[in-house]
Amino acid sequence: MLAVAASLACAPLLAPSYAAAADNPAADKQAFIADLIGKMTLDEKIGQLRLISIGPEMPQPQLIKEIAAGRVGGTFNSVTRADNRPLQEAAANQSRLKIPIFFAYDVVHGHRTVFPISLALASSWDMGVVEKAARISAVEAAADGLDATFAPMVDISRDPRWGRTSEGFGEDPYLVSQCARASVKGFQGSSPANADSVMAFVKHFALYGAVEGGRDYNTVDMSMQRMYQDYLPPYRAALDAGAGGVMIALNSINGQPATSNKWLLRDLLRKEWGFRGVTVSDHGAIDELLRHGVAGNGREAAKLAIEAGVDMSMADSRYLEQLPTLVKSGTVPVKLIDDAVREVLGAKYDMGLFADPFRRIGTKADDPLDVDAESRLHRADAREAARKSMVLLENRNQTLPLEKSGTVAVIGPLADAKIDIMGSWSAAGKARQSVTLLQGMRDAVAGKGEVVYARGANVTDDERVVGYLNFLNWDNPEVVQDKRSPGEMIDEAVRVARKADAIVVAVGETRGMSHEASSRTSLSLPGSQLALLKALKTTGKPLVVVLMNGRPLTVNWEKDNADAMLETWYTGTEGGHAIADVLFGDENPSGKLPLSFPRSIGQIPTYYNQLRIGRPFTPGKAPNYTSQYFEEDSGPLYPFGYGLSYTTFSVSDIRLSAPKLARNGKIMASVTVKNTGERSGETVVQLYVQDVTASVVRPVKELKDFRKVMLAPGESRVIDFPVSEDTLKFYNARLEYVAEPGDFNVQIGLDSASVREARFTLE
Ligand code: BGC
Repeated sequence: MLAVAASLACAPLLAPSYAAAADNPAADKQAFIADLIGKMTLDEKIGQLRLISIGPEMPQPQLIKEIAAGRVGGTFNSVTRADNRPLQEAAANQSRLKIPIFFAYDVVHGHRTVFPISLALASSWDMGVVEKAARISAVEAAADGLDATFAPMVDISRDPRWGRTSEGFGEDPYLVSQCARASVKGFQGSSPANADSVMAFVKHFALYGAVEGGRDYNTVDMSMQRMYQDYLPPYRAALDAGAGGVMIALNSINGQPATSNKWLLRDLLRKEWGFRGVTVSDHGAIDELLRHGVAGNGREAAKLAIEAGVDMSMADSRYLEQLPTLVKSGTVPVKLIDDAVREVLGAKYDMGLFADPFRRIGTKADDPLDVDAESRLHRADAREAARKSMVLLENRNQTLPLEKSGTVAVIGPLADAKIDIMGSWSAAGKARQSVTLLQGMRDAVAGKGEVVYARGANVTDDERVVGYLNFLNWDNPEVVQDKRSPGEMIDEAVRVARKADAIVVAVGETRGMSHEASSRTSLSLPGSQLALLKALKTTGKPLVVVLMNGRPLTVNWEKDNADAMLETWYTGTEGGHAIADVLFGDENPSGKLPLSFPRSIGQIPTYYNQLRIGRPFTPGKAPNYTSQYFEEDSGPLYPFGYGLSYTTFSVSDIRLSAPKLARNGKIMASVTVKNTGERSGETVVQLYVQDVTASVVRPVKELKDFRKVMLAPGESRVIDFPVSEDTLKFYNARLEYVAEPGDFNVQIGLDSASVREARFTLE
């Protein structure tokens, strides 16, 4: 074996006619790849399985050597054409087989232009918005020489303590699946081979959002029913939409880490779902098999991972170090390596890299002079997406929209926070290019009114938390504290607020608080922010609370005392303008919550589609001996699907086209929605279904369809929802996807809690 490898390594350079091969259809792809694999040494094959990050541990000169030696399949974290070009040159010109590498990055909600975080995009319930954000992200990323993104992140999260809730699309399998599909379509366009597309690596497969206690990286223990019914559909939706890659989760599932989980990666992903694409471990995850305690050493870890079906190892050296001996000793069949290499090369083929390794890197002459140039941003699109992504939670006495004339006090630790408004995973976005709320408000009232400002509080007063959040950025800390005491800052804010006609106060979390490894034990506003709100309330001025956060917060006092409250999440580069658009009524808010807001941390989980139980709490009835907490009200603070508008809507009773649904048939559930207010506005009409009696316990309700509609004042529209056998299917005890005969309640409303209901029978 060794002798063969050595002799091949000394063979004259092969010059495969990659360009001719790569524009051919799928059949040729397999032949092309088989032929190429036939020419590769074992070391070259193992090199293809290595995905490494450029950084202090692997500086560019060293990386170039590794690539030229055929020891790298792809890299991530280098994000300009100028940085990527020499790396690709090393692969395509210097390596023996001239196999191109690919360049990946975490382009989650924007690249140069930062769009609202995924949770916010989901709040738009507008799949056009989700798709467009991904499309523009892809265009910008591809223009920087990137071929792939580690996105979309489609982990269902029902525990807001988990900091990565912000990265996903919420708690509901149907809504998250829709977002997953739209996102993949946006990233990949009509093909991941297009020069302005990037390949989507859906993550984190699987169930990462269900980590115990919301503690990041923790274990997941879950029934197969729950997996199939609730947690797996979004990954499947992304793959059905054509996602070319899968990133494997860091957690274990029922006792087996995802990274060594044969059932997950081979039986489910490959055999049951028929996935033909590449899988990558998450950062260092093969190595972590030792700490999970399923591998005793690096050799075992590499063996477990390759056997399980992990094609590429991200940022660890176990494959490189261990696979050669594992194969040569006959412990790991070379077929397993070939299978993994086939997927890596297949992905590169699909990215169009064999046709032209410089497809996205282009020529030096075309490089942008300034990668951060304003002209490279898509500000109008980002503003539009942000306008659609905010959720109006309260609006007493029509406090909003505000008048542009007069004086408005803009207060709060997040009012002028250029970094935080971008949200976490802001890719190549530059904080200096983001528009804060303060700036947005000033721009909006320019020439008409006045804005006065005070910071009012730090987001946190806990130095330990500040240290935690600045952990990786000591040279350039993200969280910079105002050194004044909370009392001094609040006093100043109150003085400033007294001069104004209305107060807009931006409170919430720093972006690092809603991030990887940022699990929380409390969901209230940190630090002295609530004290600030209470002090501002004493001024008697209209108090508009603008929330900036990446997870639901327990905003009970705020709900009862704010005159208006707007959930903005993290709105991105154009956030400040977009929020001002909403506050002043240039945009009528139309977002709806993609997850439930609990009243307290003790209520978690509060997801709306819970399974039915024998002793449910019933509003209006005595709570004793029912399933609830006796110290506080039951039910969420704000339900899934909730969100107000500056206008009002009515929903009629449901009309069913027939009382019975035949197998293979269809009935229509219709309502008339009317704009009963004075302004044009959009709302989201939501269809839920409840299976009245089934062979297993079913949820109280499940979202099955929705429509976002724009209505002029006084306008009504009939919304028809088709209901078929497919709408009613679920996984039974044997994991068969079936619809069982019997009665179903169909519910239609403008949030999950207030609905009209009608019943029909499936025959
Ligand atoms: C995260 C992934 C991310 C990867 C590469 C990991 O820590 O869990 O979501 O794609 O880093 O940046």
